[in-house]
Amino acid sequence: MKKKNIVYYNTDSPEKTRSLGEEVAATLCGGDILLLFGDLGAGKTTFVQGLAKKLGVSTDVVSPTFTLCAVYPTKTKKIKQLVHIDTYRIHGPNELRDIGVEEYLGSPDTICVVEWPEKIESLLTKNMHTKKVMFSHEAPRKRHITIEEIA
Ligand SMILES: Nc1ncnc2c1ncn2[C@@H]1O[C@H](COP(=O)(O)OP(=O)(O)OP(=O)(O)O)[C@@H](O)[C@H]1O
Ligand SMILES: [Mg+2]
Repeated sequence: MKKKNIVYYNTDSPEKTRSLGEEVAATLCGGDILLLFGDLGAGKTTFVQGLAKKLGVSTDVVSPTFTLCAVYPTKTKKIKQLVHIDTYRIHGPNELRDIGVEEYLGSPDTICVVEWPEKIESLLTKNMHTKKVMFSHEAPRKRHITIEEIA
């Protein structure tokens, strides 16, 4: 059985959650998929803003709640794009297939981050390298963040 590597963080401001995103971005490789679990307002998009900053994304990152998927070109050599998926408004994986999400998942020059990943699980295969990031809302500015490498 594979050993799980789990790390825990606490942040007390959006800036600190963004910084954690930057730290995590520095450890990522092309093809990695981050599954971001947590309630509305838990800090998932704030974390993605940190990832984007570290990868040199020049546009503002917001939740793609209505567009479902946003593709941000990066400025790093090995990672060409950051793909931000938000399944909150979709009913199931077919809608994600329809917008071409499968082509990004696990692609070697792409990092995918997924908000509300429960609905994308059936599109993930065993050979994909996924990390779970779980956000919990402790107090107005306090967040508990758990990162679990599962493959
Ligand atoms: N420690 C913190 N970390 C992250 N965000 C924080 C923190 N403290 C306060 N906030 C605020 O909480 C909100 C987090 O919103 P964010 O859009 O990141 O959540 P989300 O998990 O993506 O929600 P949704 O599911 O609605 O997309 C922001 O308004 C942010 O400023
Ligand atoms: Mg969000």
